[in-house]
Amino acid sequence: MIPWTAVLVLSAVAGGLGVVLAALDRYLGTYGECKIYINDNEPLVVQGGNSVLQYLVDHKIFIPSACGGRATCGFCKLRVLEGGGLVLPTEAPFLSKDEIRQGVRLVCQVKVKQDVRLLIPEAYLRVQRFRTQVAEIADLTHDIKRIVLKLLEPDSIECKPGQYIQFEVPGTNEFRAYSMASPPSWKHAIELIVRLVPGGLCTGYIFNHLQVGDEVYITGPYGEFYLREDSQRDILCVAGGSGVAPIKSIITHLFEKGTTRRVTYFFGARAVKDLYFYQECLELARQRPNFTYIPALSAMDPGDQWDGETGFIHTVIDKKLDGCDNMEAYLCGPPVMIDAVIEVLKRKGMSESCIYFDKF
Ligand SMILES: Cc1cc2nc3c(=O)[nH]c(=O)nc-3n(C[C@H](O)[C@H](O)[C@H](O)COP(=O)(O)OP(=O)(O)OC[C@H]3O[C@@H](n4cnc5c(N)ncnc54)[C@H](O)[C@@H]3O)c2cc1C
Ligand code: FES
Repeated sequence: MIPWTAVLVLSAVAGGLGVVLAALDRYLGTYGECKIYINDNEPLVVQGGNSVLQYLVDHKIFIPSACGGRATCGFCKLRVLEGGGLVLPTEAPFLSKDEIRQGVRLVCQVKVKQDVRLLIPEAYLRVQRFRTQVAEIADLTHDIKRIVLKLLEPDSIECKPGQYIQFEVPGTNEFRAYSMASPPSWKHAIELIVRLVPGGLCTGYIFNHLQVGDEVYITGPYGEFYLREDSQRDILCVAGGSGVAPIKSIITHLFEKGTTRRVTYFFGARAVKDLYFYQECLELARQRPNFTYIPALSAMDPGDQWDGETGFIHTVIDKKLDGCDNMEAYLCGPPVMIDAVIEVLKRKGMSESCIYFDKF
């Protein structure tokens, strides 16, 4: 039998070796000049050693990367045709077998150690970095703020309803994703709805430091979660928490365009203090016969005056929605809410291909 002390010594040596190798790779690993070939363009010439994502950002090529390179969002997928090395354990949970076969990688995890060849969708190459100025900040609830950023340089944005931007946290290399709540008709400003995450880096900055008049940088637009305008199906919108942002953009856009599609909007909140844009939605429902608004509260505070729906939003949808014929759904909110709503919709006969969602 191997004595425990020997096991401990061996583990310590192996661990120490790992740290030393990582340090050597980090500090001594000189990979020299490497080329990053993108589509059919001239290559970027870089000194190897950083991630593909970092070099792309350095060269003002902005691809979706909501977690800022921490391998937690799975958004920075690109096809790496050559030079990417093996798929890392940090990437594997985000990649299907098909994607791995096609060379899809999380490029925040792919270190440039030799020449690399990538395919980048044209839409990503159109993403821009904007200098913006805070025009408005207001409390919507006890933990949600509405922020309006005026675009300074460039001074206008083309986007689809439902897409998001990445907000650069000043003084750091970090950025976070926020959906645009404003419709695409707002060419020169964007509206964000931000919920405070206790201890959060970006939301801590926004809630404690950001002031009207401050200049901040964003990149965008990003995202596949957007209104399908070529469809004539009726629309089901479901939002929870700060998930209202892209849904607000979608609904505002639809009615600005005078849609004749039937739009039903379910909003899940905990208590009366968490309701926002409530009067505005009731007013829209009064004005537009093809708009229905169904808010529901799941954890009312003692003393809350509420005669509307109660319970988790998926149970309310289950109760109120007769069927899903000729309907498509746009869902945005916490992962557990989205998963529960998808289950209900599938059970009611909605095809997965008609369900679009953003989880956050
Ligand atoms: C496509 C997309 C769109 C988004 N749109 C919006 C939006 O419109 N409004 C909005 O408020 N947020 C939105 N988010 C979430 C946002 O990007 C940040 O993740 C969030 O604001 C927290 O950032 P932070 O830097 O304050 O927290 P971090 O410093 O990143 O996190 C601090 C701690 O909180 C945990 N945490 C992070 N996010 C959450 C969360 N949402 N709930 C609970 N715990 C969390 C982390 O795991 C960590 O332990 C979106 C995310 C994505 C991917
Ligand atoms: S940037 Fe989030 S996984 Fe790569």
